[in-house]
Amino acid sequence: MVKICCIGAGYVGGPTMAVIALNCPSIEVVVVDISVTRISAWNSDQLPIYEPGLNEVVKQCKGRNLFFSTDLEKHVSEADIIFVSVNTPTKTRGLGAGKAADLTYWESAARMIADVSKSNKIVVEKSTVPVKTAEAIERILTHNSKGIKYQILSNPEFLAEGTAIQDLFKPDRVLIGGRETPDGLKAIQALKDVYAHWVPEDRIITTNLWSAELSKLAANAFLAQRISSVNAMSALCEATGADVSQVSHAVGKDSRIGPKFLNASVGFGGSCFQKDILNLVYICECNGLAEVANYWKQVIKVNDYQKNRFVNRVVSSMFNTVSGKKIGIMGFAFKKDTGDTRETPAIDVCKGLLGDKARLSIYDPQVTADQIQRDLTMNKFDWDHPIHLQPMSPTGVKQVSIAWDAYEASKDAHALCILTEWDEFKTLDYRRIFDNMQKPAFVFDGRNVVNVEMLRDIGFIVYSIGKPLDPWLKNMPAVA
Ligand code: UDX
Ligand code: UDX
Repeated sequence: MVKICCIGAGYVGGPTMAVIALNCPSIEVVVVDISVTRISAWNSDQLPIYEPGLNEVVKQCKGRNLFFSTDLEKHVSEADIIFVSVNTPTKTRGLGAGKAADLTYWESAARMIADVSKSNKIVVEKSTVPVKTAEAIERILTHNSKGIKYQILSNPEFLAEGTAIQDLFKPDRVLIGGRETPDGLKAIQALKDVYAHWVPEDRIITTNLWSAELSKLAANAFLAQRISSVNAMSALCEATGADVSQVSHAVGKDSRIGPKFLNASVGFGGSCFQKDILNLVYICECNGLAEVANYWKQVIKVNDYQKNRFVNRVVSSMFNTVSGKKIGIMGFAFKKDTGDTRETPAIDVCKGLLGDKARLSIYDPQVTADQIQRDLTMNKFDWDHPIHLQPMSPTGVKQVSIAWDAYEASKDAHALCILTEWDEFKTLDYRRIFDNMQKPAFVFDGRNVVNVEMLRDIGFIVYSIGKPLDPWLKNMPAVA
């Protein structure tokens, strides 16, 4: 029986291994993690991450050929294929601070593999890593190899949160990079055989190691660039009276451009886009490609601009002050259908409003109060560490309260800010909300989910990203 072990039971490792186990009953899959609470949660009925469809998949194979354990050494030493899916935060100090990936956790995983292995192993990079990481990992593994052979593969994950299970069942492609030597090709084939249980062969792409590593960074950079492009257009739409939804519909109809990933928003978030672009920028700079680095940096700058622009709109519309005013924040996750808040635009928007002394009442259907408080007190770049190594928030932010639902968050508020596109925000009883708010009552829709006309009829002053401006807002231009 082929044995797979995955180090890192997070958003990537957990769902990916569950889908492998479900589709490959003949393979034993063990997911290990240094976090005892995470592993206990995977072993309970309350999984540590929220992902539609995940529960059903895990239920079917947990205890059959899918296991979760904290005994890293035992399962690593028994495995034939080891996936590594641990955190790769952005460095906060030293060489490359603010850009380069910190490979501390990756390196310690590699050293542990080298220490405990007694048989040949295939080591698969699942975390996004800088190009040429495989070379460093190879050196660590072979330095003290005791005659054991290691093959390093790069098998980046392209799943998006919220749709992880369907992305894993029907991937656009599976990418496997490896050495172009006989042993390298054999390792590629072994991993290909795993995916071939359910992925059509023509969707499994094999490349050299460096192409696979770079493709992951490139794919995320291209996706983020589309969002920054449409967000840049949204600012121009507001200035000219064009409607960004109409513009992206018209642009997306061009089959060369395509309709996806053209929704204007308050900004992109998530654990990958910013981190991967910063990484790409750093690699370009290290290779003397300053112009290329600057090109990609701009994608992040426009994203930051978009978040600032939103905060400025809120403050300037409300007579240039939100001091002491209650603002209801609808949604904190970085997108709908996930409880994940890593790099969510809500953090920057909330911090911006708090900087202007607003009082916030935050509601999100999936994010815990503790997580929100932790996010609002954490420093930039501190989020991508194993949870038990993250700084704690002993006191929390005083001007922030967490609400049980949208109605509580909006009660007596001067304004609502919609920061995540949860479906339930489309069907709220906005008349009831209006009646319970201070007047004038503002709605700032950072995700274009509300029916603007209907809300204006009720009496709200409405701002929607990239849409023709409310007459009220026209007289109070936001300077970004
Ligand atoms: C992870 C990385 O964060 C990301 O950079 C990479 O691109 C893909 O893999 P994700 O699964 O979303 O993404 O992260 P997270 O949910 O934080 O999971 C990582 C897990 O690794 C955590 O549960 C952590 O406890 C575990 N870990 C970390 C180890 O088991 N050992 C370590 O040494 C470090
Ligand atoms: C992304 C990539 O899509 C995935 O392939 C990779 O493996 C990990 O990074 P993820 O971050 O989970 O996945 O979600 P994604 O759906 O890409 O959304 C990222 C951010 O962009 C979210 O904040 C989302 O709200 C925002 N977004 C997305 C927009 O603002 N507009 C869009 O049109 C699409």
